[in-house]
Amino acid sequence: AFTDRVFSGIKPSGDLHLGNYLGAIRRFVPLQDTHQTIYCVVDMHAITVWQNPADLKRWTYEIAAAYIAAGLDPKKSIIFNQSQVIEHAELSWIFNCVARMGWMERMTQFKDKAGANSENVSLGLFAYPSLMAADILLYKSTAVPVGEDQRQHLELTRDIAKKFNHDFKKQIKANGHRGDFFPVTETMAAGPAMRVKSLKDGSKKMSKSDASDLSTIYMMDDADLIAKKIKRATTDADALPSEEAGLAGRAEAENLVGIYAALANRTVDEVLAEFGGQGWGVFKPALAELAVEKLAPMADEMRRHLEDPTEIENILRDGAGRARAIAEETMQAVRAIVGF
Ligand code: ADP
Ligand code: NA
Repeated sequence: AFTDRVFSGIKPSGDLHLGNYLGAIRRFVPLQDTHQTIYCVVDMHAITVWQNPADLKRWTYEIAAAYIAAGLDPKKSIIFNQSQVIEHAELSWIFNCVARMGWMERMTQFKDKAGANSENVSLGLFAYPSLMAADILLYKSTAVPVGEDQRQHLELTRDIAKKFNHDFKKQIKANGHRGDFFPVTETMAAGPAMRVKSLKDGSKKMSKSDASDLSTIYMMDDADLIAKKIKRATTDADALPSEEAGLAGRAEAENLVGIYAALANRTVDEVLAEFGGQGWGVFKPALAELAVEKLAPMADEMRRHLEDPTEIENILRDGAGRARAIAEETMQAVRAIVGF
């Protein structure tokens, strides 16, 4: 049994894209062999903004299928759907009562997502980081492999853990627990997280919510579409730089070379050593070929699972049972500590 427990999840709020794969799902796989790993489909997070129920269900299955196709093994990892373990909601309510308004109001992602329209977004969107803290701490997770975009939320998770440990110090001790009840979770130091950018604008991240269709490579795009999107990707007129010249100040070029390097399991310098001085007319078809080679087999397996979801339904049901066993143990202790 591993001592470090990893928790991470993806929202079923759109089709999965290359950023989700390279920045999250692919990083989950090797952790299975070094950590106790819990990977979730966070559907309760998805509904903080409106989701068509049929789409929500389809995207939930799509994420489960992607987890399996990318190499997550239900024997090594707990794979489940958040709404099926109701303790997430229960702990997040307690955390709503631990977290301070001022802390939540400082969350920049809420400000970005709510924009000028903050009067009319859901209360759930505001409370989202408290549910995320519950996801992590329900399993007393010690490591969370999420992107840079989640750093502030992870900091809030640490603050909630510390305040709970402090506010209930006496009860924690009286209930027979030694030291802190919740761990103060660290950000995962498993290599720098890859940031995949929009193919149309190197200053924006590739995202499920991008309106422009050509800017995002989806995990289930077919070969022709992947090639077309890469061909039309925005680039500067110059050829690829040499290794010495480097990619500084060339966001779009940096993105495409970075994607190539990640998919090929090579360093950016190695890719520049091979392609430096060549034009985009050479590099883009090579990138398209590599992307298809890596993504097509996963897309095929995902399609197979989605056509007959029996296997992923079984995996999610079994995973929810195993997750609930851990979650229920935490909650029995929490209820006693809080005085319920
Ligand atoms: P999205 O931003 O597409 O809605 P989520 O918020 O569900 O995706 O994020 C799921 C995971 O994918 C997170 O760990 C997040 O950091 C990662 N991720 C999302 N977009 C990218 C990207 N463009 N590059 C790298 N990782 C990303
Ligand atoms: Na594991």
